[in-house]
Amino acid sequence: MIDGIHGNPTVYLNGSWLPLSDAKVSVLDRGFIFGDGVYEVLPVYGGKPFRFQSHLSRLLRSLTAIRIQAPMPEHQWASLFAELITRGEGEDQFIYLQVTRGVAKRDHAFPGPEVRPTVFAMSSPFQRPAQAVRDSGVAVVSLPDERWLHCDIKSIALLGNVLARQAAVDRGAIEAVMFRDGFLTEGSASNIWMVKDGALHAPLKNHLILEGIRYGLLQELAERLQIPVQIRRIRQQEIAQADELMMTSATKEVLPIVRLDDQPVGHPQHRGHPGPVYKKIRQAYDALIDELRLARS
Ligand code: PDD
Repeated sequence: MIDGIHGNPTVYLNGSWLPLSDAKVSVLDRGFIFGDGVYEVLPVYGGKPFRFQSHLSRLLRSLTAIRIQAPMPEHQWASLFAELITRGEGEDQFIYLQVTRGVAKRDHAFPGPEVRPTVFAMSSPFQRPAQAVRDSGVAVVSLPDERWLHCDIKSIALLGNVLARQAAVDRGAIEAVMFRDGFLTEGSASNIWMVKDGALHAPLKNHLILEGIRYGLLQELAERLQIPVQIRRIRQQEIAQADELMMTSATKEVLPIVRLDDQPVGHPQHRGHPGPVYKKIRQAYDALIDELRLARS
């Protein structure tokens, strides 16, 4: 039994299915030695992957960015995910998938082509954010973004993110909202959104943030709801004066941010509480999940 993990789920490692407790990689794996790998986190609702194609495309983009050849053809990823879901527990799951450059003698430069990437994947039961949290919102803290300049790659090397998240937790918050040179980047494991004067604002999609799958999704929902979207550089001072703030990620879905650095967030009419734009987007996001549950496989 591994701390915090229920039971002993079957996981996928390099072509084999085996109990988590038996899934082992060499200490020379470059993921362990250098953080040399990429990952994905994909939610599953009603036994069906949510936005599978977008997650797969981002995985392939991340692999290309760090020059790891895709370890399997596209259709095989689909069967791998399908099997993970079948073997997984419950209707709602989340899948963690990691690909590293493989096992080789320690040397910063890449090993030769004979070294195969390590592919690890597991499914866990998905505890969606509790209704009470969705209704009351969450607290965040602001922190300088001290990460590297390729945050668009979904790298497993997450020390900057880990330290930022822990600094938030130490201050009683659930997420760190980060700023670089005075401009909003993102959360330690989420994208951050601001509402001002009825429009939804998000930072530029560039090398300074990970383009969440929910980034494109929220743009789509906003369009459907006729909420104007502005993609631009957002100053730190604007965040403190936002009408609403929210965060998105595969596991947090979309959550309202109601406290920033111990101060209530938002327009005076709903300060410290979730705002109207969040409520509309939340409803539309839930509707998509319901649609997926009802869809035929
Ligand atoms: N993280 N930015 C960062 C730095 C992230 O780590 C994540 C997600 C996101 C949101 O991306 P998406 O909407 O595709 O989940 C943005 C995952 C959930 C994690 O590391 O567990």
